[in-house]
Amino acid sequence: MVVTVRDAVEMVRGGGVVAMPTETVYGLAGDAFNERAVARIFEVKARPSFDPLIVHVCDEAMAARVVADIPPLARKLMAAFWPGPLTLVLPKRAEVPGLVTSGLDTVAVRLPNHPLALALIRESGCPLAAPSANPFGYISPTTAEHVRAQLGDKIDGILDGGACSVGVESTIVGFGDDGSLHLLRPGGIPLEAIAEATGVLATRYPLPATPSIPAPGMLRQHYAPRVPVRCVAAWDGVLPEAWRGKRIGWIGLRRPLQEGVFALEECLSETGDLRVAASRLFAAMRCLDGADLDGIVAELVPETGLGLAINDRLRRAEGKA
Ligand code: TXA
Ligand code: MG
Repeated sequence: MVVTVRDAVEMVRGGGVVAMPTETVYGLAGDAFNERAVARIFEVKARPSFDPLIVHVCDEAMAARVVADIPPLARKLMAAFWPGPLTLVLPKRAEVPGLVTSGLDTVAVRLPNHPLALALIRESGCPLAAPSANPFGYISPTTAEHVRAQLGDKIDGILDGGACSVGVESTIVGFGDDGSLHLLRPGGIPLEAIAEATGVLATRYPLPATPSIPAPGMLRQHYAPRVPVRCVAAWDGVLPEAWRGKRIGWIGLRRPLQEGVFALEECLSETGDLRVAASRLFAAMRCLDGADLDGIVAELVPETGLGLAINDRLRRAEGKA
């Protein structure tokens, strides 16, 4: 099941689908120009066809094969953050199959910062369509083992790159005609860093371009464990009535106020380091989800830097983002 880059390249060239590590989460990759491969990605994930895929490239020249126009602000962002966890939504070229973009006239493109992903894209010679390698709506995988456990028997191979360093998906931005920037999904690149690099403050959650098509990651129940999650701003030590006497888990930056309340505690960073917290988030959620709990209390983190993405994923896990 774990394959070499050379094997993975063969598979991609033959229209197969392969899980690849990126710095954010593992992706399920196939040739973006091969409709059969793209169709299989949707099928393996049980992903609705209205939810478009991100196309991964290995350099700006390859980006130009899928994107029709790169406005100056997009160029600035590429220069500042590529390779890295920033996805740009730009006008698409006609050659990009409509299946990839769910019929939109834009395409989401990103240059990942991971040597195995870059080798796979470069040697395959084509841009790779790759959503996160999880069943639709479930927690994204940050290790090869996460992928194997859920999709192992449905895909052609897994490139094992160890644990993902960033741990939350890429930040996705779109561009307004007036030079404005829209944050479509908070992620691995903080808004503050974008503002510093460009002088432009991205506005959050604009209306999607086409009302019938949800914008990225905008489905409310997403990144979700099977166990019910309840988010709290700052836990006051009192369990919700319905959860008293039950097996409840905890996820937060630090340990909860009181001891002995939770059956299992996942602390993301005792020092409050949001980067560390992001890198541990999905593995911690999986751990809790596999622990036969009745509920999970999630304490939100400070909403700066990667905290915006972490809280976004926690709220979506609750189903109330
Ligand atoms: O970090 C990441 O971005 C990971 C790794 C594998 O690269 N990928 C990822 O893909 O998170 P996925 O499919 O799980 O999420 C992609 C999001 C979806 O919510 C989709 O709606 C949005 O990107 N998206 C893709 N194309 C779009 C477009 N043309 N316009 C608006 N949103 C788009
Ligand atoms: Mg996903």
